[in-house]
Amino acid sequence: MQAAVVAMGIGDQLILMSNIQEIKKRRTFAIISHPDAGKTTLTEKLLLFGGAIQTAGAVKSNKIKKTATSDFMEIEKQRGISVATSVMTFEYRDLLINILDTPGHKDFAEDTYRTLTAVDSVILVIDCVKGVEEQTERLMEVCRMRNTPVIVFINKLDREGQNPFELLDELETKLGIRVRPLTWPINMGASFKGVYSLYEKMLYFFAVNKTKIERDVAKINLEDVELPSLLGQRDADQIREDVELVEGVYDPFSQEAYQSGELAPVFFGSAINNFGIKELLDTFCDISPLPQPRPSDTRKVDPMEPKFTGFVFKIHANLDPRHRDRIAFLRICSGKFERGKFYKHIRLGKDIRFSSPFSFMASDKKVLDEGFPGDVVGLYDTGNFKIGDTLTEGEVLQFSGIPSFSPEIFKEIVNLDPMKSKQLEKGIQQLTDEGVAQLFTLDLGNRKIVGTVGELQFDVIQYRLQHEYGAKCRWVNMNISRACWLTSSDKAILDQFVRLKGNQIAYDKDRNPVFLAESDWMIRMNQENNPEIQFHFTSEFK
Ligand code: G4P
Repeated sequence: MQAAVVAMGIGDQLILMSNIQEIKKRRTFAIISHPDAGKTTLTEKLLLFGGAIQTAGAVKSNKIKKTATSDFMEIEKQRGISVATSVMTFEYRDLLINILDTPGHKDFAEDTYRTLTAVDSVILVIDCVKGVEEQTERLMEVCRMRNTPVIVFINKLDREGQNPFELLDELETKLGIRVRPLTWPINMGASFKGVYSLYEKMLYFFAVNKTKIERDVAKINLEDVELPSLLGQRDADQIREDVELVEGVYDPFSQEAYQSGELAPVFFGSAINNFGIKELLDTFCDISPLPQPRPSDTRKVDPMEPKFTGFVFKIHANLDPRHRDRIAFLRICSGKFERGKFYKHIRLGKDIRFSSPFSFMASDKKVLDEGFPGDVVGLYDTGNFKIGDTLTEGEVLQFSGIPSFSPEIFKEIVNLDPMKSKQLEKGIQQLTDEGVAQLFTLDLGNRKIVGTVGELQFDVIQYRLQHEYGAKCRWVNMNISRACWLTSSDKAILDQFVRLKGNQIAYDKDRNPVFLAESDWMIRMNQENNPEIQFHFTSEFK
């Protein structure tokens, strides 16, 4: 990059300097949690602190409380029309913070995994009563694959939860990450009195407060002689003892270890009561990473590079039948994105320009004239984009690290109306381009198998095929539990395996061969018998 700077004229260098100022202001992250731990509540409180919204209740939960398809479609319709909540941008201190929303329903976990490729860090919310839950473990696996820095917020301290030391142990063993508390609670549930900030060396008193944001909570130093009279002798002794223990047991906090994804700082609080949020947000601003470099098939792209690059990580269908366009979410990785300028769509090999790209400021969509690394741009799309597509100023490169994960449920799609087979074909192609599900094709008879991580997607696909494409289908269950992508350095061996396995081999959308296995045992057996072939559980194997 330095060589590039030397080769530039003064004018370009000045532009680059102003880009760098913009990049340094950006923080792009996602809040993740098992459903019900408090993701929506925390998001809302952060927006309140940032002044992006004025009242509690403004952020709609994207959780589906009942799993009926009609409920889901209703929510999706509303979300399709108003995509404003997909990215929430607010200013706090001198930073521009982008929160990328993730679906609340576990059947849509794959959408969350992809959103995680577009962030630079995450905040993980844990319910102190329930501890580490199933969905948390899977989301953290994805974070660990990418070394994404994680801050943990242990929520609902106003409820009788698990012992904090045990919670931290559970985080370390189940999530495979070292933790470092930066605040520490004084009791929980009915006797919850506050948290001690090990970072600021201050004790913050808890007060039930569901309505307004309190920026100045009462606080006191741990050595203060008033402490026993304020907390009671027993709790004053306990917190002093706990703090000593915490400082002795856990390594000191290291920003470097956090930013490289090895160490997760932990905060305690109660999102619904606005408690512990300000400490979380302030620390986030102090320690979280700026937009990070991103790997591509040819090289690592640095955000400070002068030329624009970006990739699509999400496609949002507009389910309103009057407006059939889709919205592609583009994460800017380097340079400056400008409205109306031609950019190269690498997969299609053609130049495209966008006359009305938009940003997501507060709860509004605004036409965006320019965007910088870390920003997410909404692009109206008429079918040009697939998840993972890269745009550049001309350089041929493709961003990597946007994997498909092996689905867990597989069903064959059967056309119920032979007159509409073209519509069905088109519909299923487009829906799988959006990342709603994965499509595998068996060469024999061109049978189509759809793989998802949750049952709900099958209902959604069926509904959308009928309502958007006029095609009717039914599903036939398949006895498959995993799909493994296959590679080998010896093409002849791979070809032979593919021939031998016949109906257990399908092809993904890019014609990569995939082994459809009934069980993990079957995969293990095939791995042992075919050591020259690699079996991958994600499509990201380049
Ligand atoms: P999610 O997005 O992670 O799925 O969770 P969400 O924020 O919707 O919170 C799940 C439930 O937990 C909500 O209650 C919410 O009010 C509650 N909650 C969030 N933070 C706290 C907290 O600090 N303490 C306590 N006690 N509860 C908290 P709900 O009854 O499901 O919904 P609602 O009717 O209150 O909206």
